[in-house]
Amino acid sequence: MTNVNLRSNAVITAIGSYTPEKTLTNFDLERIVDTSDEWIVQRTGIRERRISADNEFTSDLCIAALRNMESRYPVNLSDVDYIIVATSTPDSILPSVASRIQAAFGMNRCGSADIQAACAGFTAAIQLANGLLLSGLYRKIIVVGAETLSKATDYSDRTTCILFGDGAGAFLMEAQQDNEAGDVLAAYSDTDGSGGHHLYRSSLSPTVGDYELTMNGNIVQNGREVYRWAISEVARGISELMQESGLSAAQLDWFVPHNANQRIIDALVVKLGFSPEQALSSISRYGNTSAASIPLALDDAVRAGQIKPGHLLLLHGFGGGLTQAGVVIRWAI
Ligand code: COA
Repeated sequence: MTNVNLRSNAVITAIGSYTPEKTLTNFDLERIVDTSDEWIVQRTGIRERRISADNEFTSDLCIAALRNMESRYPVNLSDVDYIIVATSTPDSILPSVASRIQAAFGMNRCGSADIQAACAGFTAAIQLANGLLLSGLYRKIIVVGAETLSKATDYSDRTTCILFGDGAGAFLMEAQQDNEAGDVLAAYSDTDGSGGHHLYRSSLSPTVGDYELTMNGNIVQNGREVYRWAISEVARGISELMQESGLSAAQLDWFVPHNANQRIIDALVVKLGFSPEQALSSISRYGNTSAASIPLALDDAVRAGQIKPGHLLLLHGFGGGLTQAGVVIRWAI
């Protein structure tokens, strides 16, 4: 007999991550640009970041993150029916990174798409996967946030090259008929496209609106404007997400903001009433890894045994667009 109260939930059933072997420390950067370890640590909290090998691309990082997932959980990825990859540094514009994952794991009848929402990409992808699962269109979805930002970084620009690193993190999300399991409890998104020129990676068009871009395919940013937007508009967005979920900072177990800059994280923590211990950050070791930063910070805490089944987490990504996306989830594994 069907229980009418039983509804389908989108449950995160496994997590995996991967970061490249090579480490670039602040002291290494001191030899490349006019900067210092002290300046970088004070302004960003970053001490080192991982750099992909010359022949290692975003799809390779995704595949390694999924192999890591397979080694830790009793999962079967062969019947996944959709793959979503959030990235701003795909191996190629087409074919997509998601289709390369399909080729590596050989799923049958599997949809695939890359989405590009910069540092909000992973949480935006969770929202999309949640909708696809709740609609009943798909049953089992891989969501990956992955970047090889080092391949799109100008290492003569000291204001950006100190920030970025490479990595990948992945969720397996499944539709399950179980009220006690995990769940996406609330979601929030917002976009201010008028600020798009403050953080960009050029491709075909030489302009965003009236603004002329530096056409080198590298990431360019107005750090001060992005910082200002993050601590005002992103703080407002997270506060709206908390209202939407009906949960206060004290009722949430963990706050997992995009790891853009430790100063931004610290300012958000104070503004939103979290305790510093609630905020997960792995920025000192990985730098800003854009779409990968949330699953990387989360997975470090999972591996350390900090996150337990039933814990309530607020994940919030924000960045180029300018756009932000957040979800409140109940952790199930
Ligand atoms: N090392 C040493 N000095 C540096 C430097 C570096 N790597 N980069 C910039 N400086 C200098 C500047 O030239 C400037 O010198 P001046 O005062 O003589 O002109 C001074 O430091 C301050 O520059 P400013 O750009 O105002 O620094 P800041 O305090 O805003 O810090 C960022 C720069 C990039 C760290 C900061 O703006 C930031 O984190 N912004 C958000 C970036 C971000 O998170 N982007 C991704 C969002 S998803």
